[in-house]
Amino acid sequence: MSRPLPILVFGASGQQGGSVANALLRGKRPVRALVRDMSSAKARALAEAGAELVQGSFDDRASLQRAMEGVRGVFSVQPSSPTGEVTDEDEVRYGVAVADLAVESGVRHLVYSSGAAVGEEPTGVAHFDTKARIEAHIRTLPITWTIVRPATFMEMLTMPGFGLDEDRFTFFARPDQSMQFIAVEDIGRIVAAVFAGPERFGGQTFEIAGDALTGSELEALFSHAAGRPIAYARFADDVLAANPFLAKLTELMDEGPVAGHADLDALRRIEPDLKRFSQWLAGTGRDAFAKALGAKDGWAYNRA
Ligand SMILES: NC(=O)c1ccc[n+]([C@@H]2O[C@H](COP(=O)([O-])OP(=O)(O)OC[C@H]3O[C@@H](n4cnc5c(N)ncnc54)[C@H](OP(=O)(O)O)[C@@H]3O)[C@@H](O)[C@H]2O)c1
Repeated sequence: MSRPLPILVFGASGQQGGSVANALLRGKRPVRALVRDMSSAKARALAEAGAELVQGSFDDRASLQRAMEGVRGVFSVQPSSPTGEVTDEDEVRYGVAVADLAVESGVRHLVYSSGAAVGEEPTGVAHFDTKARIEAHIRTLPITWTIVRPATFMEMLTMPGFGLDEDRFTFFARPDQSMQFIAVEDIGRIVAAVFAGPERFGGQTFEIAGDALTGSELEALFSHAAGRPIAYARFADDVLAANPFLAKLTELMDEGPVAGHADLDALRRIEPDLKRFSQWLAGTGRDAFAKALGAKDGWAYNRA
């Protein structure tokens, strides 16, 4: 029996691509990963896990062409301007080039990771509207495509700056407003299921998430995990007045796009093990949460 053709994964040394590569490899499906630096620790870990590495860059069209030779599917994700490493135009150029080359290379299935806030209308947030442009281009192409729109990553919640080190948590939602989240590892689980079913998922665009929580629910889960009260609040008005980017995202929370509208029940029928935030916090996220708290050994999960 001939070996199945690989799936080419972009960004495999990063969060989303890493999650997709791992999920495919766990399912014994061959993975080719395009990496910029073959000798980086993450690249070596991918090779050890069974991925075939190819060296290349979004900036090097010939490397993309080589990487796509003989692959069955392509997972496409691009860096965006908040990293400071690329411009918005770079993101669009990269996403369009990957999609066009997938068509030229005869790839069967292109899966593009966009963002939950992306929709019919421009949002006014540059790195969301870039993704709308890439989506629109992909829909014009003669290829089987699927667009997934991940919700806010659970991993974002333990990043510095939201107050956990001061026993509080400040975010976009009001205490009574619900917002969706996804564990990065679950992006890979869903994308692997999508690649396994091109007939079922071809031509579809859908949001992906694993949980929906109000600010008050976040407060309860963080407090339980910390073993002490973590007070939740929406960003204060003076903070929003001083930061137009946060203010815009908060406005989009109220208008809906940032809150997310994934069909969690339908997604659990595709992948039953999608993480609730409580599970993520007690498992994959516990070290990051402990670090964010500045806690040494004083939080509840360590005492379990
Ligand atoms: N929904 C959310 O909460 C959320 C949160 C964060 C990000 N995002 C979105 O997710 C996307 C980024 O995905 P991510 O967070 O998985 O990325 P990430 O963890 O920052 O990793 C970026 C990946 O892209 C690779 N890369 C960067 N420049 C490249 C180039 N020129 N050629 C080839 N590969 C290159 C990096 O490789 P190296 O190892 O070589 O650097 C790395 O593998 C962005 O579009 C962003 O808007 C969403």
